[in-house]
Amino acid sequence: MQISKTGVMAALLVGLVWLTGSAFAQTTPLPSWAYPWVPDFKLHPDDGIPRRVPDSTITHTVTQERDLFFAPVWHQADHPPLPEVVARGRKPDVRACGSCHRAEGTGGPENSSLAGLPAAYIIQQIMDYKSGARKFSGPQRSPNVLMTAIAKGMNETEIQEAAAYFSALKPKQNTTVIESDTAPKTFIARVFVAKLPGNETETLGNRIVEVPVDIDQFEHRDTRSKFMAYVPPGSIAKGEALVKTGGQGKTMACAACHGADLKGLGDIPSIAGRSPSYIVRQLYDLQQGTRAGVLSAPMKLVVEKLTDQDMMSIASYLATQTP
Ligand code: HEC
Ligand code: HEC
Repeated sequence: MQISKTGVMAALLVGLVWLTGSAFAQTTPLPSWAYPWVPDFKLHPDDGIPRRVPDSTITHTVTQERDLFFAPVWHQADHPPLPEVVARGRKPDVRACGSCHRAEGTGGPENSSLAGLPAAYIIQQIMDYKSGARKFSGPQRSPNVLMTAIAKGMNETEIQEAAAYFSALKPKQNTTVIESDTAPKTFIARVFVAKLPGNETETLGNRIVEVPVDIDQFEHRDTRSKFMAYVPPGSIAKGEALVKTGGQGKTMACAACHGADLKGLGDIPSIAGRSPSYIVRQLYDLQQGTRAGVLSAPMKLVVEKLTDQDMMSIASYLATQTP
């Protein structure tokens, strides 16, 4: 077989575009600690024993808790009744929002808090997942892959109902930020980081270690779960300077768009008191262009020059703020 000259030229050109494209995308190394993923992690089998959480008389089985078409409700008085799409979703693709984001939209480091986000913003994000404009960096972790499939499967009524429900909820501060040279020894339980039993610690280094305080309560999807985030010493003050002043042109003061208290302004979402792992993933995804939604353009200048350390500092400071 003969390979044509134009064919060779085209192949070289594609190679060149690929090289320059990937060289650009590598400017900031992937903060891999924020994208934990052990796909073949073995879950313990359901022993049939009904589970409970503190301050609730309700019980759920482990099988129910793992069912993505079921949102465990533990504290009915904490939130309004769940609309169908949040409570059960619709087979085959639309998993119950509450199964991952929790009944009260509190979320976890493995996904996102949704409580109190502007309805128009929530709707736009679902449209961005639907169109493929909002993708994500790092390993293709199953909850993110499912989020995309869910958005693609949602109909207009479901989008409106979910956005109305989550935007009306009050966000909760559930993370304690600790500056430290060391952190507890951890393991990756499929898609989240958890503390190993015992009190062993290790050097923190250049990462954030964000773990549930009580792993059982977390796995029961209890909306009252708390988290600890171990961050490098000095992160909070460095983050505060970047957030408030833009760090002499490195970025832009966030309050201009996210509101004086960082709790959102108009259709722009709150960034206060949210999971630092989630915030770093968004800053990184926006910088790399894997998240390039209809509303993403104003964030381009904000993230362009940030290093992975800057992202960690910003996320650490934001997590200390009241949502
Ligand atoms: C299988 C788990 C899972 C289910 C079920 C799920 N999501 Fe998500 N959702 C995610 C993950 C993971 C992310 C993105 C986290 C990231 O980017 O790192 C996300 C992100 C979002 C965001 C973006 C939040 C933001 O601040 O920009 C919205 C909005 C959202 N989900 C809405 C929904 C709605 C509505 C439903 C129910 C129809 C739903 N999700 C069901 C896992 C899930
Ligand atoms: C010029 C306006 C503007 C400024 C300044 C700005 N933002 Fe944003 N930000 C936005 C908009 C608009 C969005 C929604 C982007 C989208 O939908 O993709 C956003 C989204 C975000 C998100 C994603 C939130 C989520 O729920 O997923 C984060 C994190 C964020 N901004 C952080 C910051 C930080 C930190 C600063 C300051 C260092 C900042 N932004 C400054 C306009 C701005």
